[in-house]
Order: sequence, then structure tokens, then C-alpha cells
Amino acid sequence: MSNSKPLKIIAIMAQKGGVGKTTLSTNLAIAAAQAGHRVAILDMDDQRSAEYWAVLRQRSGQAQSAFPTVRGEVPSMLDRAISEIRHDGHDLLFIDTAPNAARAAKAIATAADFILIPTKPGALDIRSIEETMEIADFYGKPAAVVLNDAPTNSNLAEQAAQFIADVHKYPLAEEVICNRVAFSKAIGSGLGVLELEPSGKAADEIRGLYDWLARTAGLNKTNSGRKAA
Ligand SMILES: Nc1ncnc2c1ncn2[C@@H]1O[C@H](COP(=O)(O)OP(=O)(O)O)[C@@H](O)[C@H]1O
Ligand SMILES: [Mg+2]
Repeated sequence: MSNSKPLKIIAIMAQKGGVGKTTLSTNLAIAAAQAGHRVAILDMDDQRSAEYWAVLRQRSGQAQSAFPTVRGEVPSMLDRAISEIRHDGHDLLFIDTAPNAARAAKAIATAADFILIPTKPGALDIRSIEETMEIADFYGKPAAVVLNDAPTNSNLAEQAAQFIADVHKYPLAEEVICNRVAFSKAIGSGLGVLELEPSGKAADEIRGLYDWLARTAGLNKTNSGRKAA
């Protein structure tokens, strides 16, 4: 049966590999599921890391939600996949993307309501934000940068945030995601850090990032299936 709830689409895009696209897609999807969303992840990277995470998730006894639904897809089937995800009653979709996928990036930007661009805080990483921002601008989509994998023992992230705001004038997520072992452990267990270590620092950061995203991208909370903690 079709469901008339609008589907919000958040694309997690970066032209660089290894900056945390899959880490943030999976962890934000768990945060959204915990907030009561019927959430899906569309894995557009042919490495299929998010899909692999979902296989691990099915085998894990610790997953606390049936969501997110995770589906691998090829760029030429994007529109069809989105309409099936909508038809299946999902109200929120994260698109986990491949690096260096210029053509697919345009199709994804067209479909997206909001584009989140993860970067590590290094100068060479920050440099590659520009290409993704240009795609977002060209398609008139709101976008923001999120600093990921920031070292906890230096002020590199602060410097990077200042540089991104002053030089590039790009909007930045309020929350910085630090380099934390929990992120690697969670990915390898098919979980989100909110499930693996709910009272840890990584979980706090993901909660902060999700709350910021919900406010910024206008993700309406649903209360279906929400339980008091
Ligand atoms: N904040 C973080 N703390 C620790 N490890 C991280 C963090 N973000 C990403 N990683 C690790 O870095 C690697 C690349 O992350 P991934 O999310 O797969 O990047 P992408 O999808 O952009 O290629 C993975 O091994 C992941 O576990
Ligand atoms: Mg990835």
C-alpha cells in the first residue's frame, strides 16, 4: 500500500574517498530510526560498504531497529529506487555516494533536499569540498560541510572550521565528529555508535549532528514506534 508521507532525501556527498560518507550515513540513519523515522539508505558506491554493513547488521543480535532499510543501486536506476523507497512508506532517505562520481553526483544532487559534505580537517581534504559545493550550488540545493575524523589532541578541527567559514564561506555543521574507535567498531558490527556505546563520546557527537541536521534540513519527527528511553 502506498504511503503519502513526504520523503526527505539527504545526500552524503564528497568527491574524496575515506572521509566518512558511509560512517555518517549509517550512524545518522540509526539516529533517525531512534527518532521514529522510517529511514532507508541507498548505497550508490559500487564498493557497497553500506550494504555490507546491513548484512553484518542482520547477523548481529544487537541491532535495536528494523530500520534502516539498506539497498544498493546503480546510478541509472536512482529515480526508480527513490520512488520504490517512497512507495514502501519510508519518510527519510540517506544517499551514501561514491567518490569521483561526477555524473551520478548530478543525478543525486537533483534528487536531494539537502547535501551533507563530510571532510577530514586537513588542508588537502578541505580543498576537495569545493567541487561538491559547486554541484550543490548549481542545482540550488542547501548544503553544509561536516568535519569528521578530527584528532582529539589538537586544535586542527577548530582551525579547519575557521578556514572553511572565513575563506570558503561555506555553512558548517555545528557538531564536529572526532576520530573515535567506536566508529570503526560499530561499522564492523553492523551497528551505529548509538547502539554500540550509547553513553560514549561518539554517540554524543552523532546525537548532536543529527539534532543539528533535523533542525537545518527540516526533518519532521514522527512518533511511530518511538519509545521513551
Ligand atoms: N570519526 C571517525 N573515527 C574513526 N574512524 C573513522 C571515522 N570516520 C571514518 N572512519 C574510518 O575511516 C574509514 C573510511 O570511512 P568511510 O565512512 O568508509 O569513508 P567513505 O565512505 O567516505 O569512503 C573507515 O575505516 C571508517 O571506519
Ligand atoms: Mg563509503
